[in-house]
Order: sequence, then structure tokens, then C-alpha cells
Amino acid sequence: SGPLRVALAGLGTVGAGVVKLIEVNRTLVERRAARPIQVVAVSARDRNRDRGIDMSAFEWVDDPVTLAARDDIDVVVELIGGSDGPALALARATLESGKALVTANKAMLAHHGIELARMAEAQGAALKYEAAVAGGIPVIKGLREGAAANEIGVVYGILNGTCNYILTTMEKEGRAFNEVLEEAQRLGFAEADPSFDIDGVDAAHKLSILASLAFGTRLDFEGVAIDGIREVEAADIAYAETLGFKVRLVGIAQADANGLFQRVHACLAPVAHPLAHVDGSLNAVVAEGNFVGRLFFQGSGAGEGPTASAVVADLIDIGRGEFGPAFAMPVDSLTALPPAAAGDR
Ligand code: HSE
Repeated sequence: SGPLRVALAGLGTVGAGVVKLIEVNRTLVERRAARPIQVVAVSARDRNRDRGIDMSAFEWVDDPVTLAARDDIDVVVELIGGSDGPALALARATLESGKALVTANKAMLAHHGIELARMAEAQGAALKYEAAVAGGIPVIKGLREGAAANEIGVVYGILNGTCNYILTTMEKEGRAFNEVLEEAQRLGFAEADPSFDIDGVDAAHKLSILASLAFGTRLDFEGVAIDGIREVEAADIAYAETLGFKVRLVGIAQADANGLFQRVHACLAPVAHPLAHVDGSLNAVVAEGNFVGRLFFQGSGAGEGPTASAVVADLIDIGRGEFGPAFAMPVDSLTALPPAAAGDR
């Protein structure tokens, strides 16, 4: 078949990484996609920023939404970010026009995932978002495809690299919260608004997506009880350590007769548990299935290479024509469970 013609909207760290990955790994990527991959157009606020790679050959477009209407584009990759605004306008226009959408936008999916999945279904279009949760870790594929035959009892994990970096650096160096937060921002994996990281909102966005995939339930971000790590002090971490625990910000979800329980909060992880060994900005996801047993996924949850790796894997799937419903099953088949509080369990 002909080339897969791609438009990139948003050229921050991840967008530049996608261009680099396609260039460096072009031969293997195109063999796996079974067709050439062509970046046809790009849209970003700043054309002149040095992204460490030559982008002068691409067509530059000012208004990303115009990409959705073009006949010479098959896939729009949305890397603008933000739950609403231009990202959502572009996502809607892309799917309405029957084009495939690849997005790394966990906030948009947490708030509008059901609506977007419905649009994709109506048009027979792909909606892919491997990069939205846990960056380079193939946890969307892992739950949606790999563990698809299992009844999953619980899914939980470390879903925010900024918080994990802060907690584990406080743990190792005994430093204060604010000082380490500034460092995480400099390192570039904190959200534009770091309160999304440290107040647990980013982890909650991701947890709501994982819960839907794991349990086949309707995505329910509003149902997540959220607590962050602002109040954690180096002394708390040191004290926990003397008792045999590490402090980690964990998102956990369970579905049972009481409903859908979803919560993000700082947890005491026993040192014998694998989550206690997830350090720095790494992410990890654990899922327990009734036939597969315990699955443990670990890797980089952010950054140029890992996140680009997830985006391009989605492009390969689209190139192959391998995509089904956005979530575990078509939207109308997802179970709508009421939110359950901790006391219900
Ligand atoms: N701010 C996020 C994190 C980036 O720290 O994990 C990846 O979603």
C-alpha cells in the first residue's frame, strides 16, 4: 500500500523525538508498518527553536486544526497537550473526518476519552494513545491486548515520574520537597503546571485510563479520589524506612460488586514489594489477572526517546491496519460502574 502520511501537531520534546526515531529507525519501522512513513506537515508555535534535528523540509502549518481536513494526511499525531482547547478541537476534527488520531494526551483522554472513542467508532477510525500512560512502557497494549483474556482484579502503579523522582531523591539525599521539585522541572519531565504532578492529578488521569482498559469499565476520571505528595517530608520518608517501607505515590484501581474504586495517594510500599524498587523518574504498573497472574511493567514514563517509541509503535499499528476499539471494547459495551469509596471494599 501507499505511504502512511503523518502530520505532527506539537513539536516539543516528544514531537522532536518522533521525527528523530523515524529517521534513525526508518528501515525497521517501515518494514514493520509494511509501508513507508512520511511526515507530511508539522504544526508548532515556534518554528525557529533548535530541536536538534533539521525540520526545514516539512511543511509548516499555523493552525493545527486545518490538518484534520486535508486529503493528503492519513494520521494526525496530537502532541499539543491540555485537556481541552486546541488539542481537543484537533482531536475531534481529525476523528470526525475519519482520519486516525495518535495522542499522548492523558488529560484529554481522561476527560473526553469516551466521546472521542465514540467518534472513532462511528468513522471506523483508529484512536491510539500508547504514549499517554507510562510513556515508553507498552502498558496500553499490555492490558488491552496482552491481558485481554483475563479477569483483572486490580491494577496499580507508579504513574508519575516527577513524584517518584521527588520522593526517591528526598529518600536518598534527605533533601527538602521544594528543592527537589525545582530540579525535576529543570530535568524536563514535570508537567507545564507541576501542580498536576505533585497533587496527583496527572497520575489520576493515567489511572482512569488503565482502569477502563483493565476492567472493561467506562472511563471515570471524576470517580478518582486524589491525594498528592505536597505534605510529605524527608523525615516521614526516613521514618518509614526504619519500619521497612518506602514512600511512593501510587494509583490503584479495583472493580467489584461495590463498584469502581480508584485512588491516587502516597503509600507505604514494603521493601519486599517491587514498587519499592522503582527509583528516580521511572514508572511501573502492576496488574493481576486470573489466568496470567501478576504482571509487572517497568520503564521510563516520560522523556523524548521512550515517549516517541510509544507514538511510533501506534503509527506502525495503523500502518498495518491493526486497530480495534480505543478501549477494551466498543463504548456501548463498557460496564458503567458507580464509584466506590475505600470503606465500601
Ligand atoms: N509529568 C509526567 C510525569 C510526564 O512526571 O510522569 C509523563 O506523563
